[in-house]
Amino acid sequence: MMTNLVHFSGGRSGPWRIVDMAAVRGEGLARAERLAVSATADGPGCWTLRGVVGHARYATRRELDGLAARQAPLGRGEAVCAALIPIRKSQAWWDLAQDERRAIFEETSHHTAIGAAYLPAVARRLHHGRDLGEPFDFLTWFEFAPDDATAFDALVAALRATPEWDYVEREVDIRLVWE
Ligand code: HEM
Repeated sequence: MMTNLVHFSGGRSGPWRIVDMAAVRGEGLARAERLAVSATADGPGCWTLRGVVGHARYATRRELDGLAARQAPLGRGEAVCAALIPIRKSQAWWDLAQDERRAIFEETSHHTAIGAAYLPAVARRLHHGRDLGEPFDFLTWFEFAPDDATAFDALVAALRATPEWDYVEREVDIRLVWE
């Protein structure tokens, strides 16, 4: 059994209430009321997206240490807001070599540098779905307090304006509250 496999199931059950769903780029997802996040598929939902929490591909030792020193864990009591942003990148992205992707990701787009400014307010976890044959390459998950929701919107807007996002061909933005 794959222990680091995570299922995000949209439907009528689950502790997270979906407050907004937007198709940012490409095809959206069927509207659902609630979301369950679990190690096993959560029964018949509208849709289930799967991803594996894996090792970092691009971050350097220095970047990883910098993030580790600042980042907060998931599941904080005050972080009752969340975002699930599934993303698929284009074939042109996957045709690049590792060093070319890293250069676009950080040296050109400053993804980690931009994101680091929002720690520890925003807690995050990245899941990979591409090698599972999933419709999204990445399931990005974030948790934050209501007071930090505006800052989170600014973060997302800043990242979407970077050259890295030229390679995003499908993106859905799902916002949730724990209630
Ligand atoms: C990957 C940091 C916010 C989307 C990464 C990686 C880091 C990172 C270090 C690379 C992991 C690796 O080495 O493989 C951060 C920080 C954030 C943040 C500190 C602040 C909260 C976001 C947001 C989004 C996002 C808001 C979506 C709107 C992604 C995606 C990847 C990624 C799609 C995978 C990129 C790829 O492998 O091609 N992030 N990020 N991140 N992040 Fe973020």
